[in-house]
Amino acid sequence: MAKAPVGVGPKFPQVVVLVGATGDLSRRKLLPGLFHLFSSGFIPGCRIIGVSLDDTDVDGFRAIAQGALEEFSPRSLTPEKWSAFSDCLDYVSLSAGAEALKAAVARAEAALGCESRRLHYLSVPPAAALSAVRLLGEADLVANSRVVMEKPFGTDLASARSLNAKLHEVFSEEQIFRIDHFLGKEPAQNILAFRFANGLFEPIWNRNFIDHVQIDVPETLGLGKRSAFYETTGAYRDMVVTHLFQILAFMAMEPPTALEPKPISEEKNKVFRSMLPIDPKEVVRGQYIGYRAEAGVDPESDTETFIALKCQIDNWRWAGVPFFLRTGKKLAEGQRIISIAFREPPKSMFPIGSGIGAQGPDHLTFDLADASKMSLSFYGKRPGPGMRLDKLSLQFAMHDTGLVGEILEAYERLILDAMRGDHTLFTTAEGIERLWEVSIPLLEAPPPVRLYPEGAWGPKSIHQLVAPHAWRLPFERAWRDHNPFGS
Ligand code: BG6
Repeated sequence: MAKAPVGVGPKFPQVVVLVGATGDLSRRKLLPGLFHLFSSGFIPGCRIIGVSLDDTDVDGFRAIAQGALEEFSPRSLTPEKWSAFSDCLDYVSLSAGAEALKAAVARAEAALGCESRRLHYLSVPPAAALSAVRLLGEADLVANSRVVMEKPFGTDLASARSLNAKLHEVFSEEQIFRIDHFLGKEPAQNILAFRFANGLFEPIWNRNFIDHVQIDVPETLGLGKRSAFYETTGAYRDMVVTHLFQILAFMAMEPPTALEPKPISEEKNKVFRSMLPIDPKEVVRGQYIGYRAEAGVDPESDTETFIALKCQIDNWRWAGVPFFLRTGKKLAEGQRIISIAFREPPKSMFPIGSGIGAQGPDHLTFDLADASKMSLSFYGKRPGPGMRLDKLSLQFAMHDTGLVGEILEAYERLILDAMRGDHTLFTTAEGIERLWEVSIPLLEAPPPVRLYPEGAWGPKSIHQLVAPHAWRLPFERAWRDHNPFGS
């Protein structure tokens, strides 16, 4: 095993109880992430106990894990690395019950042979979360442990409150890590650096200079095997209540008193408290044509696979500035951007026909892909006679720094933080409950879904939603090419 990078990992080796170990998220992200953290020495030792409904054994689980790493890990899987990782894996089927799980954890702790901590990762849908928590309680695995809960955290205010209350019967709030993987993305954290490590931007980060904001996460992906899960969830619960609102909070919050979990959560929660209830009249729900024919989907389904909405943060910094959010499946492009449109100058001395204002306002755009990109677009003079204006841009791409190899995938970063007990990038019970509260008008009276064809940007009414502004995507000018080798 490689030597641990100093100070970034947990102090003690970890016993990970991975509930939902054979599921989609586990295979795509969690097993590859744990493999990377283990084999690059971020964790000083670890044992992983896979738990799931599957009636398999440790060899079966090892085969699933190996297949997952071969298919989804971006890192090389040498026979030595696989053999070391595979030795750390164990498996307990849910049907074997609490006693079998307790015994497996005891074996794992004995194998580590020194002081260790437990990390329970519940990679299960909301309906199964509580029974997994009960199982951990019955197996007496609460001491010395932390528990990571996957989203969506409840499906409305009542279910989130009840989940929190029941969770607190077993685990204390300190032990609970509600994960939102968008906050583990490197560029999301870079928003904090960009805003609070520089004197340049914060003075203009308010209603006096910013006209409107867009958080736009279109996906080209369909639902694949997830349609049955998605049918009871939909785009609002799957993406907006979780990821998009969390990103919005980083973008909109006041400077925290310290870069620490409590002050950051306090500021995020103040944003959520200032958020006005979502008005169904300012929401467009869409469904791609063909969704109703998918396995596990009601032929008359009203579930949205697309949503666009306007929301408002009614505080001194943001009153009157609309935030437009959009996300959906089977759309024209896969992008994850935050785009901030600045106010236009009060008067223009440039002649009609010069091009002033012709390409929208000045924009600051963050790309939330794993390697950050940022662009500031503005009007500048086109070379030559007269005064013709063009939209120009300053662009930054993390690729150009040569540091891209250092990036931890979002789940890797968040698993490591949970092992260290650092709540900074996790969501709180209060924050989540407030988000469900502002969602009540929409959940009680959702506007009808409008159909859209695969490869569109959503139903046609998305343009009325943002008028007189326009959606920033699709970009008029693509991101500039960069040299991935940074020469
Ligand atoms: C997940 C949603 O949380 O995030 C998926 O359940 C979505 O529906 C995914 O596709 C997007 O995450 P990423 O990291 O691929 O942008």
